[in-house]
Amino acid sequence: MSDPYLSTRHLLGIKNINPSDIELIFKTADEFKDVINRPIKKVPSLRDVTIANLFFENSTRTKISFELAEKRLSADVVNFSASSSSVKKGETLLDTVNNVLSMKVDMIVIRHPTPGTPVYLSRRVEANVINAGDGTHEHPTQALLDAYSIREKFGKVSGKKIAIIGDIRHSRVALSNIFCLRKLGADVTVCGPPTLIPKHIESLGVNVSYNIDETLSWCDIANVLRIQLERQEIKYIPSLREYALYYGINKNRLSQLDKEITIMHPGPINRGVELNSDVADSEHSIILQQVENGVAIRMAILYLLARR
Ligand code: NCD
Repeated sequence: MSDPYLSTRHLLGIKNINPSDIELIFKTADEFKDVINRPIKKVPSLRDVTIANLFFENSTRTKISFELAEKRLSADVVNFSASSSSVKKGETLLDTVNNVLSMKVDMIVIRHPTPGTPVYLSRRVEANVINAGDGTHEHPTQALLDAYSIREKFGKVSGKKIAIIGDIRHSRVALSNIFCLRKLGADVTVCGPPTLIPKHIESLGVNVSYNIDETLSWCDIANVLRIQLERQEIKYIPSLREYALYYGINKNRLSQLDKEITIMHPGPINRGVELNSDVADSEHSIILQQVENGVAIRMAILYLLARR
């Protein structure tokens, strides 16, 4: 039996957690998935826990998903978004966080554009810290919900052939997915234009391909990513139109294959760029199941961290 406690007090990334932590999160998420499909979707597990969601970057899915997960565990929840806070008046991040924590907050969920922010805070505050995305670095809860969705559809992750396609260079989803899928024994290929694939990424145990059609005919599952224009200080591709032409996934491209592949996307989708509607909305897409599973995965993480 796996250890019933996580090996860590914080969820800062996938790089430094154990495969047994991932299995424990998945098993706990199975139970919470049952809970959120009941007519009464709420359990009292975190009734005495206060959680602050600190979002210094835009978010729809991740923010709502964390908030619902917290509320379904009966936690007290406070939300903070940088655009309407005293950060605009010049306060430091640590001052902001310490002020929030002095109001007796137990856990913080943080999204921040600067890589390393969750690690920085975890070394300076008492609360449990959960990384909800730190710049181009990691997005651990997304990787866990992605792998969980693969496990749900195929029964296991180990041995599956998974392609991660698009802006690998600027994507925290790509990096966390690579760590997570490799720890679980999947075969991973990253595919995109050469300018959007970091040098030496093979050292993380993945294959590299610049040919989308070869990659699609190899994989069982394609996890398609958005071009992160907001993180690109120079032009890495001539235009989105050209990207769509060479790397965009549409029904026509998939109909050339002699098999069906499962399509994933963390959202938000730029329809007509990385993915066409005829694929995003097809029966092979599990994009909305990923979103549904996100709540159960985040409930599991919050519950397990609070229990330690
Ligand atoms: C991703 C993110 O914010 O990193 N979205 C998400 O969390 N669901 C991916 C993206 O922004 O493209």
